[in-house]
Amino acid sequence: MESQFTHVHDTPPPGAAADWTISQDWDAFTADEHAMWDRLFARQSEMLPGRAADAFLRGIDVLKLEKPGIPDYRELNARLMAATGWQVVAVPGLVPDDVFFDHLANRRFPAGNFIRTPQQLDYLQEPDVFHDVFGHVPMLADPIFADYMVAYGEGGLRSLQFDALKQLARLYWYTVEFGLIRESGGLRIYGAGIVSSYAESVFALDSDSPNRIGFDLARVMRTDYRIDDFQQNYFVIDSLDQLLETTVNTDFAPLYAANAALPPIPIADILPDDSVITRGTQDYAAAKA
Ligand SMILES: [Fe+2]
Repeated sequence: MESQFTHVHDTPPPGAAADWTISQDWDAFTADEHAMWDRLFARQSEMLPGRAADAFLRGIDVLKLEKPGIPDYRELNARLMAATGWQVVAVPGLVPDDVFFDHLANRRFPAGNFIRTPQQLDYLQEPDVFHDVFGHVPMLADPIFADYMVAYGEGGLRSLQFDALKQLARLYWYTVEFGLIRESGGLRIYGAGIVSSYAESVFALDSDSPNRIGFDLARVMRTDYRIDDFQQNYFVIDSLDQLLETTVNTDFAPLYAANAALPPIPIADILPDDSVITRGTQDYAAAKA
């Protein structure tokens, strides 16, 4: 899954508005495309109870995502808006960082307006509508997580005056995309990159290979990540409140500067101050190397 922070065009492509949005044009999706959504939805929703965070599963319910076919944003947004004031907007592909941050700060989640082909069932480079809507939108129906995403977008806009995109990208990666949360039943997934992936939904919780480390904002913002395979590290929050509070109560400008003076932390390293939940064998990554 490609980082959100690498854009392809500098100006909106033909047909897109100044904020890069396009019409979802829901009626243009074919029966095969709706069937692909249904196939992916069935596979994930069967496996996720007991694995996905409570907030994620609640979001699926509140938004009535079990309705067959690619969701029509006219219906989905009515429910999402009622829950948290968020809406989903269609975009032609990855958008520039400033545009992305501005959408988040204004409670709009940009979603790729295409769906993967059968050949891309388990891997694709650019986020499609299944990743963006099934993966991201259920959490946006949770009021705390919804506020975190706004804070992230606002922080992103403020950060444009600093050289901080890489640090912010790591925060996004290890929370919004690949975050784990500790719940009363054990560790659960809330990151969109995991919940939208059949194989990583199992790997992230069951494999002995990755490290699972308690979330620490400054540490996460220095930690490298990989975009081409299962993660070697997962960071675990204790609650969505912890994630939101830490973010809104941190003065990021001095943190960016302090982090920039330190080297990045190699992907699989464990530091003396880490709150280690499971120390990974890293066997999976080693076997691939
Ligand atoms: Fe994503």
